[in-house]
Amino acid sequence: MTERAKFSGRIGFILAAAGSAVGLGNIWRFPYLAGKNGGASFLLIYLLFIAFICFPIMTAEIAIGRKAGLNAYGSYKKIGSGSWGSVGILGIIIGILVLSFYNVVAGWAFGYFIEIVFSDLLSVKDYGTHFAHYVADPSDNLFFSMGFMILTALIVSQGIQKGIEVANKIMMPGLYILLIALIVYSLTLPGAMKGVEFYLIPDITEITRHTFLDGVRQAFFSLSLGMGALLTYGSYLHKDQNIVSSAAIITLADTMVAFLAGLMVFPLVFSAGQSPAEGPPLVFMILPKIFQDMGPILGRIVGGSFFLMLCFAALTSTISMLEVPTAYLVDEKKLPRKKTVWTLATVVFIMGLPSLLSQGTKGFDMLNKLSFYHGRDFMTFISDLADMGLTLSGFLLCIFVTYRWKLFNMHEELAIGSPGYMSSGLHHFINFSIRIICPIAMGILFTMLMLEKFFGLDNIF
Ligand code: TRP
Repeated sequence: MTERAKFSGRIGFILAAAGSAVGLGNIWRFPYLAGKNGGASFLLIYLLFIAFICFPIMTAEIAIGRKAGLNAYGSYKKIGSGSWGSVGILGIIIGILVLSFYNVVAGWAFGYFIEIVFSDLLSVKDYGTHFAHYVADPSDNLFFSMGFMILTALIVSQGIQKGIEVANKIMMPGLYILLIALIVYSLTLPGAMKGVEFYLIPDITEITRHTFLDGVRQAFFSLSLGMGALLTYGSYLHKDQNIVSSAAIITLADTMVAFLAGLMVFPLVFSAGQSPAEGPPLVFMILPKIFQDMGPILGRIVGGSFFLMLCFAALTSTISMLEVPTAYLVDEKKLPRKKTVWTLATVVFIMGLPSLLSQGTKGFDMLNKLSFYHGRDFMTFISDLADMGLTLSGFLLCIFVTYRWKLFNMHEELAIGSPGYMSSGLHHFINFSIRIICPIAMGILFTMLMLEKFFGLDNIF
């Protein structure tokens, strides 16, 4: 039996799980998806998904991990037996796919940090063009994304506790402080209120099918659900810890960072007279301009800290993504941890190369415009594929808990460390959500995403 490490305590677990959840998804992806989907309407739908679907699924995922005390595959198999282990495998595969492109974006953030502090990012004239050139040029990117993967592997190979716990303790509060400072600054700019309006006053007529589809993918992605990440962290959790309240704190911390990131970005976008619907480059194009306006010294300090925070937010996420397949191989195949980590990191880095080269790199038109994927780029393809997998994985999790593990067993696990749980309303809420709301919603959304992405839903309806 492999001896299983545990988190030092509740704070350690919450920090690591929140570190996993808070990442590029909150600061980079959430604002651009919200910008694309009408701002406040997206926020509204997103919050509904978080509360009614993601929070209950998070408690279930952590409960499975703690009950079984194994990796994603091992836990499903131990509790469910038979072929249920494949749900865990699905999660592990999605995790690897996500890490492959996530690491590329983390490399961009890393590169921007270096450029803003040590080079001339602050003297660029047009940040839109700059970013387009930047992501298309593989030389720096290759270097930075490799650096990022090495950093991730270094930490994971050491075992997860000390490095992660300490890094999170410093970086998470720092992230909050910086976000709030930037919000205060952005709100004082002329025209900022238009951004606030866009972000906070929903226009119901703006809600379309896309709001739901993007909302659910983002909610799942942001909370690190469906990939066995929280399940794996749950397996390192002591029995006397309260899963339900920990999950609530993790959910709140993550949602708060996404919300604040939007509150920072939209006033900036509107005061600069830009369109909020820029898509993925949004944060990389808008923020440097603001740092530039602050002047060379302040701009370097604030901008440098911002991109550094972004790197750390990403790092605590990549660590947990790499931990999932590592735990699987170490538990199930009895492989040595260090070797496993470095091998996985190498494989995932290579898997990320097509994504890295799909952002306009010359000579790689095939990847920039996939013929079988409506001319979209490879990174978008992988990210869509992964998100689809996430909704499927969430759906299967609910089916697993309801019909195989049985809800009362899950509640029993949740009640350990949470004395009043069984008699509380939360118990009924989670029950109803996992049994009814989640599978229906996830099933419908998975089908719609498939139709939309692969078969062009617009042609069908
Ligand atoms: N939640 C992370 C973010 O918002 C991304 C992520 C998705 C993740 N799934 C994960 C991180 C699994 C760690 C493990 O940036």
